[in-house]
Amino acid sequence: MDSFVIHGGAPLRGEVTISGSKNAVLPILAATLLTGDTCTIRRVPDLSDVAFMLRILESLGAEVRREGDAITVRAARIQGFGDYELIRKMRGSICILGPLLGRRREASVSLPGGCIIGTRPIDLHLKGLAALGTRIQVENGYVHARARRLAGTTIFLGGRAGPTVLGTANILMAAVLAEGVTVIESAACEPEVADLAHFLVAMGARISGIGSPTVTVTGVRELHGADHEVIPDRIEACTFLCAAAATKGDVTLQGTRPEHFGAVLDKLREAGVTVERAGTGLRVTRRGKVRPADVTTQPYSGFPTDVQAQFMALMTLAPGISVITERIFESRFMHVAELMRLGADIAIEGPNAIVKGGRPLSGAPVMASDLRASAALVIAGLAAKGTTQVHRIYHLDRGYERMEDKLRRLGARIERVAGE
Ligand code: EPU
Repeated sequence: MDSFVIHGGAPLRGEVTISGSKNAVLPILAATLLTGDTCTIRRVPDLSDVAFMLRILESLGAEVRREGDAITVRAARIQGFGDYELIRKMRGSICILGPLLGRRREASVSLPGGCIIGTRPIDLHLKGLAALGTRIQVENGYVHARARRLAGTTIFLGGRAGPTVLGTANILMAAVLAEGVTVIESAACEPEVADLAHFLVAMGARISGIGSPTVTVTGVRELHGADHEVIPDRIEACTFLCAAAATKGDVTLQGTRPEHFGAVLDKLREAGVTVERAGTGLRVTRRGKVRPADVTTQPYSGFPTDVQAQFMALMTLAPGISVITERIFESRFMHVAELMRLGADIAIEGPNAIVKGGRPLSGAPVMASDLRASAALVIAGLAAKGTTQVHRIYHLDRGYERMEDKLRRLGARIERVAGE
């Protein structure tokens, strides 16, 4: 398993281009199963999660071609239920359920287990699909879903922690080929869900209320091929913003949509970081000390759970107390113990992490536990004195395209070390 060796202390400086969004492209690739025509998806990031999804599509009989960052998929005929081993390995593969039901009224996927950040149930996905007329059986770790016909209806999709992102994606993908009108109430408003909806519209779907909590879908008989460019990854953008701020750097992000991460920009400014438009880019600089800031994660357009760990790494540098509250996932604080190995002072009390910032960080060996926790450790390592080795960075490869190359071009001293 590869690791990163980081010699901290170098301020990040220069320009970085943000890749296409992981969490938008996964359901969009799944949605290509809704038609037998060719779909072209552009600005596809080169990530291991994307490679997994493409292999799942191939195992269902789709032809997949990659040219640079464009992928074409043609699912002329769908065979079988796909490679269960692959489906089991990637949680995002749950989003093939909706399109398979839409296209051929039958789907079977392995029930995703819990993961390091929480239990991650799919009850809301199943409730929504059942409301559309699907018969669902959960047996031996698999979800078998079958429908004679899918009929539109009104579905309330809100859960304990608010709306569900992939749940909304699944219901949308089933509803576009259902008979009649489906209204999704308490739909997720995340830009990744809106991007999927725009792709579906380009395929001939009829959807209104895109990006709002009430989405209305009028079913059509069939969809056709489409050409779509994926939105930029707002979480990657926010990760680079936090890294630049943590190293007292001066970095310009190209290819972002700052309107997708207003809540993070607001908190960075509260923390004394300057973020401003610079031509077509977004420039982030820090001159003085970081100031403490409290953050509570929320569904969009609130502060994203996927930036909580990276922002916490930044707050360890801010003299004073910051309270970081996680409201989306119940155990998304695996990075805390590792940040403490670097010298951070953090106490967990229920959903709150109390960060007493301002103590200097010093390099140490640390262990990545999930994608965003790993990003937080890289940020802390870049800001720490001395050498930090981040083990198990395969988590990072799932969701950040060539992170070490991008950081190195900004002046970071970071290398990938193979093996173990
Ligand atoms: N939930 C339920 N029942 C369900 C589904 C979700 O109770 O049927 C709960 C979850 O347990 C959680 C909350 O609802 O408490 C929100 O979960 P959601 O369903 O929105 O998460 P997801 O769709 O499985 C996506 C992203 C995650 C991101 C979350 C929240 C993808 C592939 N994954 O997951 O991304 O954290 O939305 O924004 O899009 C990441 O990129 O690192 C990542 C974990």
